[in-house]
Amino acid sequence: MRLTRNAELFTLLAFCHAVYAALYTDSDHLPATIFDFVIVGGGTAGCVVASRLMENPDVSVLVVEAGISNNGILGIQIPFLASQNLGNASFLWNFVTAPQPGLDNRTVSYARGRILGGSSSVNYLVYTRGAGQEYDKWAEITGDQGWSWDNLSKYYLKSSRLVPPADHHNTTGQVEPSAHGFGPVEVSVSGFPTEIDGRVVNTSKIPGSEFPFNADLNFGDYLGVSYLQATVGRGQRSSAATAYLDPVLSRKNLHVLINNTVTRLISSGSSYGKPSFKAAEFAPDASGAGLPLSAGLVLTLQPAKRGYIGTPQILMLSGVGDREVLTAAGIKPVVDLPDVGQHLRDQPRVENYWTVASNMTSDTISRNPDIFNADHTLWKKNHSGQFAASTANTTGFFRIPNDDPIWNNVSDPELDPNIAHFELIFDDGFSPTVDPLPPTGNYLSINTVLVSPTSVGSVRLASSDPFASPLINPGFLTTEFDNFALLAATKAARRFVEARFWEGFIIERFGSMGSAESDEEILAAIRQAVVTIYHAACTARMLPANASWGVVDLQLRAKGVSGLRVVDASVMPVIPAEHPVAAVYVVAERAADLIKGSWS
Ligand SMILES: *[C@@H]1O[C@H](CO)[C@@H](O)[C@H](O)[C@H]1NC(C)=O
Ligand SMILES: *[C@@H]1O[C@H](CO)[C@@H](O)[C@H](O)[C@H]1NC(C)=O
Ligand SMILES: *[C@@H]1O[C@H](CO)[C@@H](O)[C@H](O)[C@H]1NC(C)=O
Ligand SMILES: *[C@@H]1O[C@H](CO)[C@@H](O)[C@H](O)[C@H]1NC(C)=O
Ligand SMILES: *[C@@H]1O[C@H](CO)[C@@H](O)[C@H](O)[C@H]1NC(C)=O
Ligand SMILES: *[C@@H]1O[C@H](CO)[C@@H](O)[C@H](O)[C@H]1NC(C)=O
Ligand SMILES: *[C@@H]1O[C@H](CO)[C@@H](O)[C@H](O)[C@H]1NC(C)=O
Ligand SMILES: *[C@@H]1O[C@H](CO)[C@@H](O)[C@H](O)[C@H]1NC(C)=O
Ligand SMILES: *[C@@H]1O[C@H](CO)[C@@H](O)[C@H](O)[C@H]1NC(C)=O
Ligand SMILES: *[C@@H]1O[C@H](CO)[C@@H](O)[C@H](O)[C@H]1NC(C)=O
Ligand SMILES: *[C@@H]1O[C@H](CO)[C@@H](O)[C@H](O)[C@H]1NC(C)=O
Repeated sequence: MRLTRNAELFTLLAFCHAVYAALYTDSDHLPATIFDFVIVGGGTAGCVVASRLMENPDVSVLVVEAGISNNGILGIQIPFLASQNLGNASFLWNFVTAPQPGLDNRTVSYARGRILGGSSSVNYLVYTRGAGQEYDKWAEITGDQGWSWDNLSKYYLKSSRLVPPADHHNTTGQVEPSAHGFGPVEVSVSGFPTEIDGRVVNTSKIPGSEFPFNADLNFGDYLGVSYLQATVGRGQRSSAATAYLDPVLSRKNLHVLINNTVTRLISSGSSYGKPSFKAAEFAPDASGAGLPLSAGLVLTLQPAKRGYIGTPQILMLSGVGDREVLTAAGIKPVVDLPDVGQHLRDQPRVENYWTVASNMTSDTISRNPDIFNADHTLWKKNHSGQFAASTANTTGFFRIPNDDPIWNNVSDPELDPNIAHFELIFDDGFSPTVDPLPPTGNYLSINTVLVSPTSVGSVRLASSDPFASPLINPGFLTTEFDNFALLAATKAARRFVEARFWEGFIIERFGSMGSAESDEEILAAIRQAVVTIYHAACTARMLPANASWGVVDLQLRAKGVSGLRVVDASVMPVIPAEHPVAAVYVVAERAADLIKGSWS
């Protein structure tokens, strides 16, 4: 018997090393069924917390990820190809929203990363930390100064660092090194200024411009036009998986099970007078039987993979949610938390197009297989060239001017003058959303994004089947402010390209957004053009422990439950008015510290 055991052990080790140090696809090969921490989802936050918890060699950590490994997938590594990921079912949760009344009942694609690293493995790479006042608002809402900008700064500094761009150009004036930290996620500006980068930046430097230049949007004051910072290092994508997980995969106290979906958490007894979750059930696919997996402590971390969607879904399937709704769905309620899945906020996005007098835009590359293949070959050679450039080089965050006519119709929901209403992202090519790349022509795209939406949505269970997609309703454009703010953003984009630097370059507005003239026409075109920029949050909001609402407390523990924490964008009390991935890293870093503090 002893020999057999040793032989088995040997086989197991050999298998692990042959495939990947501690990456498993078959749960039978896991060396144990009991772990100190089980992390549901190897997404953005899950990778961070796993890598921080396993710093203590006496702690064992298991990450269960529904999707595949990020290793060896070129489309994910190459920054230029980021926009193509959003069609690829092999590493996405291909969710679709419910019909949106604010969008003439259109449904909207709502993909999430289903892969190690979660959406940080498939996103458009944009890295923005936002305004200091936003985090101070978290501290004010929760009553916990631990969530303030000042106190969270150390987590920002330990999550990312500035690295040289792929072409090693001189970045003086494009980014401020002192705004950056020393963490594992690599952040850089794109290659040298191009025809449009110069026009964008020069427009922002016109004295008195309503779109002023900002030397680094990650200082805590992010309004204005900036060189876009992307999670790109050495010409390739830097994700939670490459930065946090890959370097520690060979450590013996970390185990990562991929291709397996957690279907529910199992409550067993109680602890400190609260129902206690100490086991998770998972299955390789819809046909597989649910296998129980024990844990000393179950820790639910949200998967940026399913993030604000997966968290409420798993909580509700586990009996944590609105008692009446769960009972109606045939799920035995364990804890009555009516806020689970509520208060979803997301940022609607619209593309505005112009035809341009240039043949150097990305359209030429996308259409011409010879150029595309040459760029691909160059990237494979030394991670340089066009394929190392991310999806945009410049961006800007703005407030709707005080004299804009929209203020005659709506009041301002964001009174803090440091927090943006909308973003403009500048692309030197046609950025396809509802319309595909036209067969001919060269284009400028200005993405208008409503970063401070007031519309509220939800995630609800469609069925008690854990493999069924939940009902996702972002409630896009269901408030007057949201409609008018996107209108104001489109008008701002049009004003932007009236600056003299665009003369001789811009030919004319293009597409149905472009041909809309009156406010009513623009609003009608917006309803047909809105997609998501995939920034939803707030479905498991953190609020003071004594509040009668909210899903998690200030330590991110699920309220009324023992042994369960939620870590991802769903816990944010308000939606960040920027791209949220930097804030997710910060939340996850602090969560790891809080967990370590209560464990020791
Ligand atoms: C989707 O990703 C897979 C890798 O998982 C790759 O083999 C395939 O070519 C991709 N498909 C498209 C259409 O990009
Ligand atoms: C959207 O659907 C609702 C409910 O079916 C219907 O009442 C409404 O007229 C539809 N709106 C549009 C613009 O089609
Ligand atoms: C926040 O920072 C202040 C000053 O740095 C410190 O005194 C306080 O203890 C911190 N609060 C928390 C909860 O970390
Ligand atoms: C980069 O450019 C700045 C300003 O033009 C200059 O002062 C600095 O010396 C340059 N750095 C290098 C390494 O060339
Ligand atoms: C960003 O700049 C690089 C040059 O460094 C250029 O190749 C690329 O097309 C630009 N990308 C966008 C989306 O503007
Ligand atoms: C932008 O301004 C710089 C500095 O004045 C100048 O060298 C460059 O040619 C300008 N670019 C455009 C597109 O106008
Ligand atoms: C893991 O999932 C991927 C994508 O669904 C599939 O191609 C692959 O065969 C699976 N691997 C195993 C070992 O089941
Ligand atoms: C762009 O136009 C110039 C001048 O007409 C031409 O020399 C060049 O080959 C064109 N480049 C591409 C990529 O088509
Ligand atoms: C990559 O290779 C190309 C072609 O040989 C060369 O021009 C370029 O300088 C190299 N880039 C880097 C960053 O090494
Ligand atoms: C704003 O309100 C005014 C006065 O009610 C109205 O005339 C105008 O049409 C509204 N604007 C839009 C774009 O609906
Ligand atoms: C919650 O506790 C805080 C102090 O910890 C107190 O200021 C607040 O009034 C309490 N709220 C409720 C609803 O009891």
